[in-house]
Amino acid sequence: MSQDLDSIVDAARQSFAQAATPAQLEDAKAQYIGKSGCITELMKGLATLSVEEKKTRGAAINQAKQAVEEALTQRRRALADAELEQQLQAEALDVTLPGRVREPGGLHPVSLTLERIEQIFASMGFDVADGPEIESDWHSFTSLNNPPNHPARSMQDTFYVDIQGEDGIAYNLRPHTSPMQVRYAHAHIKRHAAALKAGDLPEIRVIAPGRTYRVDSDATHSPMFHQCEGLWLGKNVSFKDLKVVFTDFCRTFFESDDLALRFRPSFFPFTEPSAEIDIQFQSGPLAGRWLEVAGSGQVHPKVVSNMGLDPEQYIGFAFGMGPDRLTMLRYGVNDLRLFFDGDIRFLRQYR
Ligand code: PHE
Repeated sequence: MSQDLDSIVDAARQSFAQAATPAQLEDAKAQYIGKSGCITELMKGLATLSVEEKKTRGAAINQAKQAVEEALTQRRRALADAELEQQLQAEALDVTLPGRVREPGGLHPVSLTLERIEQIFASMGFDVADGPEIESDWHSFTSLNNPPNHPARSMQDTFYVDIQGEDGIAYNLRPHTSPMQVRYAHAHIKRHAAALKAGDLPEIRVIAPGRTYRVDSDATHSPMFHQCEGLWLGKNVSFKDLKVVFTDFCRTFFESDDLALRFRPSFFPFTEPSAEIDIQFQSGPLAGRWLEVAGSGQVHPKVVSNMGLDPEQYIGFAFGMGPDRLTMLRYGVNDLRLFFDGDIRFLRQYR
């Protein structure tokens, strides 16, 4: 190869080596073996030479062209390899890192209890209702025959929200699920208006589980806790029915026929007569002790009126139980706060 061709090949090798990207490399290639690259131009120049010269000069140019193409191929491969290497590094996986396991979730023990309560009462023909946690003064207290000066209404006992109701009294975080008695009765009457007119209102049979709030916090009281209201109202419902239903519920819930119930006289403004319901296990770690699980009573005539029904015709009973307490008894937990601390080590025992 002649001097000029050698230096062209050298120059090509150098500019290929300097090309840092495939695009730069293609630009460099164009200068040598592209349509108007210098080697291509030399080829075109052959036309003016004699046949003998064409042969030798042509062969030399071809050799140079091959050398340039070889250099180009090598550089292309090198750039492709570098790019791949870079990509591999960027996407590198450290296979020695510990894996991230997604554990199966589960229901909270109190949720398990609520589901259980709903199932048992549904099997006895009770509807399950839901209602607001931010309640009006009328629903939480007045409709339930709570006198205006009743201590339950005080700021020490009930949380209030900074919003006034239509009556000018602040809304409260419901301190019990009892407002659902009147709410559900209203909805029931609306649904069965024609039947009510005909004196043929279907019985009200409902439970209303949910969150409730009171200004209270220790091992057995949490500012947020759960209650489940029950209401059975009709023309011929008596305290005997309450005893049967609640006894049946407790025995099913705790899976024990060996369970005694006691209806201890008590007072609530919205029931008359009223009773606390205590249960006593006959065996097991809690055997022999009376444990309070619910408040109950015959719905007060004033509450029946506030429902929009004639207390001379409609009678029934209501109860309010504590699902948190039922959960503690069922699982033998002695501190209510464990349920709401969110400690997964505690909660995962129950799912
Ligand atoms: N609401 C009462 C309480 O929170 C419980 C209760 C409900 C009592 C229904 C009687 C009837 O203590």
